Amino acid sequence: MAKELEQQDGRLPKSIKDGKLETSDCYWWCSGFFPGELWYLYENNPTPELKKYAGLFTERLEKVQHVTDNHDVGFMLYCSYGNGYRLTQNPAYKDVLVTGAGSLSTRFNPMIKAIRSWDFTNNGKWQYPVIIDNMMNLELLFAATRLSGDSTFYKVAVSHVDRTMKEQYRPDGSCYHVVDYSMKDGSVRNRHTAQGYAHESAWSRGQAWGIYGLTLCYRETGDRKYLDQALKAVRFMFNHKNTPEDLVFYWDMDAPNIPNDYRDASAAACIASALYEISTVDVPEPQTYKAYADRIMESLASPTYRAELGTNGNFLLMHCVGSIPHNGEIDVPLNYADYYFLEALKRKRDIEQKGSKGC
Ligand code: GLY
Repeated sequence: MAKELEQQDGRLPKSIKDGKLETSDCYWWCSGFFPGELWYLYENNPTPELKKYAGLFTERLEKVQHVTDNHDVGFMLYCSYGNGYRLTQNPAYKDVLVTGAGSLSTRFNPMIKAIRSWDFTNNGKWQYPVIIDNMMNLELLFAATRLSGDSTFYKVAVSHVDRTMKEQYRPDGSCYHVVDYSMKDGSVRNRHTAQGYAHESAWSRGQAWGIYGLTLCYRETGDRKYLDQALKAVRFMFNHKNTPEDLVFYWDMDAPNIPNDYRDASAAACIASALYEISTVDVPEPQTYKAYADRIMESLASPTYRAELGTNGNFLLMHCVGSIPHNGEIDVPLNYADYYFLEALKRKRDIEQKGSKGC
């Protein structure tokens, strides 16, 4: 994939469309995943070629540090520059991360106490939409405080997760996709979905973003309430009547055509990665979480989900869903499924080889 795109100025892989590799520029929310995958591959096998490609594709995102019109800067920069900085200590990468965190922080409203996800208002239905996906962007903010010494980023992240935990989660441990806040007084106006089956359903990738995001907030702050909420969300997913035997979740836990509905390998991969981290922290029966993650990974690595080498546009995994309500990216490979699959493999290997903290 890297060789195929090397000469295509600024392009990054996204998915497959009409049987062909579909690419994006750096401003698509998924632009950071492929460089991140290359960094994970380089970490596993540190060849000069992998380092060259990881650097080349990472640096295609340089302009993203100035993006202020959406919240995805965290996904984009932390997967690419974040992993790159972790492995190379390149000071230029550090500067991009800190500038990017500043751009993301411009979207924080102290009255609402959360970062605005989208400027898009859904034809005037929303004033200040915050989506559960936004939890993933907090990792960039925590990193930026460590890198710069400026605690503002950390405070923004903590405020965001606290408001999200209060407003976005249901008593059963599942979460809403979109919470819309009033710009007048900060109250909740709507609890909706955008990519799930229904406002009251549990969109599987949203559950994944929440579980992963809460787990990283626990890692960064040591505050147990985030881990407790993550564990509740995990129990929701794994005790659900619609959880399939192979643990590769349907695209929505309440999808209308279960058991004949689409699976979303991206949600499963992201949850597996988070579960490996959970299995390394102070939880009762940590091996249960590792066993769930291992089962997901065995399914994803089987021929049902893992494409044969050289097929599938060179993506690793098949059977992901972008957005069924928007009729986009249905039953296709997606670069973030591959990213979290590789990250989960790394975490699994670290835990098993070192017998120590893998995350
Ligand atoms: N962050 C968008 C998605 O999960 O599809």
